[in-house]
Amino acid sequence: METEKGVALRPFEKKDIEQCVNWGSDQDMRSMMRPSNPRPRSREVDEAWYTKLINDPGTRIFSIESDNGFIGVIYITRIDLRNRNALLSVMIGEKRDWDKGCGTQAIRQIKDIAFNELGLHKLFLYVASYNKRAIKVYEKSGFVVEGELKEHLVVDGNFEDWVVMSLFNNNGPGV
Ligand SMILES: CC(C)(COP(=O)(O)OP(=O)(O)OC[C@H]1O[C@@H](n2cnc3c(N)ncnc32)[C@H](O)[C@@H]1OP(=O)(O)O)[C@@H](O)C(=O)NCCC(=O)NCCS
Repeated sequence: METEKGVALRPFEKKDIEQCVNWGSDQDMRSMMRPSNPRPRSREVDEAWYTKLINDPGTRIFSIESDNGFIGVIYITRIDLRNRNALLSVMIGEKRDWDKGCGTQAIRQIKDIAFNELGLHKLFLYVASYNKRAIKVYEKSGFVVEGELKEHLVVDGNFEDWVVMSLFNNNGPGV
């Protein structure tokens, strides 16, 4: 477990799933976490989804711990070792824990795992254009906008833009 300024990542466990499903059922959270997925999803579908991630060899998923205990989840999926890229997702579950630097620290730690442990070259992510807090955190973490998918999502009946952001690691040629 790596700890920095009170934020630590530990392996995500089956017992963490219920809390994540509860966090994900919040209306605001739904509109920020992969809003293109059909929502609401049943608890069973959400639970099966997290269970699949735990057992997926192409995923590294971690629980985020702070002084307040278990506060969120962060994971890289679709780990592609041939092309050395992966998709990043993060959720700080309780709104009271937002804007305290925890998301930034968790991203810094998973970047270290992705680039220094797994040897990846690129992390990418999708974020709704209206999710200004998340975009700010990604920019602070070194991500740049790679492209924008216009009117790509229907959220509450409106077409919304979807931003693709990426972070590159200059760790040698793509051999
Ligand atoms: C997005 C998320 C991971 C960020 O984690 P966090 O711990 O809240 O973020 P941090 O405290 O590290 O940083 C937040 C930054 O955003 C800024 N911010 C907050 N609201 C903002 C807004 N409306 N516009 C611009 N910046 C904003 C804060 O000021 C802070 O920047 P600063 O440190 O330079 O002052 C977390 O809020 C979260 O899980 N949100 C809900 C789920 C989600 O959106 N996940 C990402 C899906 S792509």
